[in-house]
Amino acid sequence: MLKRCGRRLLLALAGALLACLLVLTADPPPPPVPAERGRRALRSLAGPSGVATAPGLEAAAAAAPGAPVREVHSLSEYFSLLTRSRRDVGPPPGGAPRPADGPPRPLAEPLAPRDVFIAVKTTKKFHRARLDLLLETWISRHEEMTFIFTDGEDEALARRTGHVVNTNCSAAHSRQALSCKMAVEYDRFIESGRKWFCHVDDDNYVNVRALLRLLGSYPHTQDVYLGKPSLDRPIQATERVSENKVRPVHFWFATGGAGFCISRGLALKMSPWASGGHFMSTAERIRLPDDCTIGYIVEALLGVPLVRCGLFHSHLENLQQVPASELHEQVTLSYGMFENKRNSVHIKGPFSVEADPSRWED
Ligand SMILES: *[C@@H]1O[C@H](CO)[C@@H](O)[C@H](O)[C@H]1NC(C)=O
Repeated sequence: MLKRCGRRLLLALAGALLACLLVLTADPPPPPVPAERGRRALRSLAGPSGVATAPGLEAAAAAAPGAPVREVHSLSEYFSLLTRSRRDVGPPPGGAPRPADGPPRPLAEPLAPRDVFIAVKTTKKFHRARLDLLLETWISRHEEMTFIFTDGEDEALARRTGHVVNTNCSAAHSRQALSCKMAVEYDRFIESGRKWFCHVDDDNYVNVRALLRLLGSYPHTQDVYLGKPSLDRPIQATERVSENKVRPVHFWFATGGAGFCISRGLALKMSPWASGGHFMSTAERIRLPDDCTIGYIVEALLGVPLVRCGLFHSHLENLQQVPASELHEQVTLSYGMFENKRNSVHIKGPFSVEADPSRWED
């Protein structure tokens, strides 16, 4: 249906307006929308059933210098720490220096869609509830850039897009399973020969035009790590340096739930810690989730600072704070529940929330 030329032209003309029509809501959905589509709760990430407790997760975020370090014992505690930190800070962290605030960054390098590798992380349980929505919206128009990393065979999905990678990783939402998928994403990106690696989750909407504009303002041969931290200060972790020796380490990381990007120049330097199974062992060294491990490799091991960018948005921040007039400039958006409230971008569209609860119009 969308393939019809007339419709395409109309879509093109509508341009920025259509970008603005993107509304993400998480209202309790009426049938026939699968229940999951609307009920993204933080609990679902951190709920007792979904998460294997990460033994001895010793990161302590949000500890002021000199203050006692707070130990984090499980992935669920880690997520609630992210939540608490966001609430304490007031305006979303990473909202500080952002490209859109200053003068627009000049173009460093024009990019074609084939220059960018977007890895979408999902799990078989969410193929219908979340991935179908992406396939109907932004992925449908950017299939050559998009690669889906999942953990189970799905013939229906394979018929819709050729870019599905079964990672054979566990379907658990555990630290190890997440790192396993990130390891496969990294290896596939390196094999692809593309200029930029971007990682997003299956609840992210990617505004590809804004993404290309952002990435095009940096040379891909330089060391670039772009994203938005969820915490207001570096995460404090304990790095295992040998059999019985650990030392404290702290670094910034871009939250995976908002999406982040890495230049090829930087990705190649990460290889000793990230390629061919090394990512898993690196993650074990600090015993933190996949997105933290990326920050650890980039900031702590390679000494390359995260470039904070306020154009990436996860469902852990208050999406109502994104002004409607700036929606079309955002690189990623998300949807879900936050602190038991619906968290979505606030805009008017031609469809009622009841008619289109996800509001991912493209
Ligand atoms: C997953 O397993 C299948 C079957 O053994 C294999 O063909 C495929 O290459 C594996 N995927 C990865 C990413 O290793």
